[in-house]
Amino acid sequence: MGVRQRMASGDEEPTTTTKLVDPEKGVSVPNSIGTSTTVLLAVTIVGMVPWYLGKSALMSGTGMAFSMVCFAHFLDKFRGRYHIHQKIVVRDLQSTGTELNQGCSSTNVHMQEFNLMLDHIFPIFDFGVMKVLQSDLPAVSKQEHLHAKMHREAAKAENGRVEDPLKRWTWLYLLTDFLILRCGKMMTITLCGATEASTYLWGYAPFCYMDKYMDNVLLFHFMEESEHSMLTVQGFKKQGSVILNFVLYPLFAIFTFVLFFLPPYVRMLAEPSLLLNPKTYIDLVKFHLFMTVIYIGANLGVIAHWVFPLPMSIGLHEFVLDRFMDELKLRGVKFEDTYSETYICHQ
Ligand SMILES: [Fe+2]
Ligand SMILES: [Fe+2]
Repeated sequence: MGVRQRMASGDEEPTTTTKLVDPEKGVSVPNSIGTSTTVLLAVTIVGMVPWYLGKSALMSGTGMAFSMVCFAHFLDKFRGRYHIHQKIVVRDLQSTGTELNQGCSSTNVHMQEFNLMLDHIFPIFDFGVMKVLQSDLPAVSKQEHLHAKMHREAAKAENGRVEDPLKRWTWLYLLTDFLILRCGKMMTITLCGATEASTYLWGYAPFCYMDKYMDNVLLFHFMEESEHSMLTVQGFKKQGSVILNFVLYPLFAIFTFVLFFLPPYVRMLAEPSLLLNPKTYIDLVKFHLFMTVIYIGANLGVIAHWVFPLPMSIGLHEFVLDRFMDELKLRGVKFEDTYSETYICHQ
């Protein structure tokens, strides 16, 4: 701790830094995709073949989209970068047990189910990020470790109140675990990178979600996601593949569709008595309207920042981080800063 080193690219030193990581030692995170310029140009041309010669609209459309994505990444390699200091704070969350599940002011039964399901699914993504970026972004890894721990604790606390919630989501848990942690490093990078690029929008884009529907554990999680997602997306990009990001995007779109639209039906199947309550149907309409917005936001984020190479907005990240902090304070969620590291982001 307390290590301060001069920036390779800038003249000033950050004043709030407790540890500045040296970009020369491999911890700076360049924004461009790992694939080389030659390969990018080659695959751009390969994509043009079905684009021009494709017999069906689907084939030409896919070829055109693929060519455009590869060419955008090719051009991105020549774009000038500016460097920003991204401070990552490792925090100690003091709220425990059932406190983690509180804070959601909505009585929407489907939203409660959505929050509960995320407690089971999110730790897998957190472990995926840790697995790949532990050495590049150690402080982020520590944040992810805490996320996994607190979601597990929240799920355990919830388990005491709701009958058997784990069982009804076991299939999705096992499927996510298989895809993220057992299908090889490139699959982890592609799906976790897409998720990190999408939390940028789906966590807070429809603002009422944060204030009304997020329980405390999700609120804290998304606060830290908005703090580190620029770094994780860049860290993953460095090791990722433009082809996989493109080819696996439909898998992400299907996965998020299941994640965002299935919770009401799983809950109603597990608790058929809900079908007798008219509120269930009103909640269902509200849930779907709301999730449609989040689904579109999440997928736009992935297309813009993961499939295409558009840089993420620093201003929006700072703005939402402040909003999350304010909401956490308002709810009285307690945490303590333990230490911080500053990384260099090449935007
Ligand atoms: Fe996380
Ligand atoms: Fe994350």
